[in-house]
Amino acid sequence: MSEPAPAKRLYIKTYGCQMNVYDSERMADVLAPLGYGMTDDPTDADLVVLNTCHIREKATEKVYSELGKIREMRDERIAGGGARMTIAVAGCVAQAEGEEIMRRQPAVDLVVGPQAYHQLPELIARAHRARGERLAADFAPDEKFDALPATRRPTGVSAFLTVQEGCDKFCTFCVVPYTRGGEWSRPADAIEAEARALAAKGVREVTLLGQNVNAYDGEGGLAALVRRLARIEGLDRIRYTTSHPRDMDDALIAAHADVPELMPYLHLPVQAGSDKVLKAMNRAHTAESYVRLIERIRRHRPDIAISGDFIVGFPGERDADFEATLQLVREVGYASCFSFKYSRRPGTPAAAMPGQVADAVKDERLARLNTLLDEQRMAFNAATAGRTVNVLFEKAGRHPGQLIGKSPYLQAVHVTAPDRMLGRIVPVKVEAANPNSLAGVLEMEPA
Ligand code: 5AD
Ligand code: SF4
Repeated sequence: MSEPAPAKRLYIKTYGCQMNVYDSERMADVLAPLGYGMTDDPTDADLVVLNTCHIREKATEKVYSELGKIREMRDERIAGGGARMTIAVAGCVAQAEGEEIMRRQPAVDLVVGPQAYHQLPELIARAHRARGERLAADFAPDEKFDALPATRRPTGVSAFLTVQEGCDKFCTFCVVPYTRGGEWSRPADAIEAEARALAAKGVREVTLLGQNVNAYDGEGGLAALVRRLARIEGLDRIRYTTSHPRDMDDALIAAHADVPELMPYLHLPVQAGSDKVLKAMNRAHTAESYVRLIERIRRHRPDIAISGDFIVGFPGERDADFEATLQLVREVGYASCFSFKYSRRPGTPAAAMPGQVADAVKDERLARLNTLLDEQRMAFNAATAGRTVNVLFEKAGRHPGQLIGKSPYLQAVHVTAPDRMLGRIVPVKVEAANPNSLAGVLEMEPA
């Protein structure tokens, strides 16, 4: 028998989207057989991984400032006679700017893109030998998933599960098609096996992830996959994100009507409400077709919570175009949204478009949009007050004796309940609504 590997400490900092959260967990799975266990303290770590996001300029700049801090930490440790610290940059900045990272921050030992992190053990070994390529950024999602360990070590009752990666839509503002590659779907058997493994470890809810998750092209599409996973014993809630309006097919809409495990929540970004801007964004839908789509979905599932993403200040956006965005928001009525100032990303078509909007104008539009979105979120939460909703308890609350769970509509719900209810789904009467959460009481005495 081989010697047990020495305990090494791994610190991972995750930026950006939920797929990065998933990827970080999987990196930990890849590194566990090498003896790496997680730590929350970077000063204590033998391996630091920054899992980065490239979507907006701010996200990217954060990586470089964080790397500066980590480098200081490492130098202090070495000066104090401590063990070596290996520094890795993963994720979408690694993919897009791998060479530049190595140049700008020589303390970085290795760089690994989102489709290559199964190669981490090899890259670490090469970095320690100071020989061989320390940058892996190929696009081979199938090889990655084949190489990942079958086991997962979920930390809670709700888990992410990547089913699709990449994007072929080429919205003109977006770096994703360049950092994550083309659309690719995982085989359904592999997804089901992972979902069963999660359920066996007590996971009650999975969120299926993809940059274009509803473009999932396994047999029968995402609808068939949802129906298949809904049959797994113990898996009582299924969600998916992020979707594109173009890929919202009838089968998926029908699933919202008749699969009880599929939660009544849909993140369906529209980005803008002006057809001129939508066209310049290459979104391939109009404001009208989006609103009609939402109406159709609501006919199948009237209580569905709709969420979205918005960009203000896209090149060429005039006041009237922005007003059209506000108008669309009023027509749809959102439960909760994300809104961003347009960020010029090198290499994307929009970065070179005329009519770039001044930052002060973007600020003003963002503030106005957020005021409206905040009102809508509050109205959505207020409409839940007085109702009874099923809550999946996920973690302890801030106050003793309190648990926090999620409603079917993805609202956080604070309830006084015993710890043994963690991981259970129980009816809760909602008594108060706040902008970001609900408060409620157990409908029945805890069994
Ligand atoms: N600037 C601002 N927001 C962006 N997003 C994507 N690219 C950009 C950009 N260049 C937003 C979109 C997308 C979300 C994930 O990020 O709204 O839906
Ligand atoms: Fe980016 Fe558009 Fe693809 Fe979404 S659909 S990842 S916004 S290119």
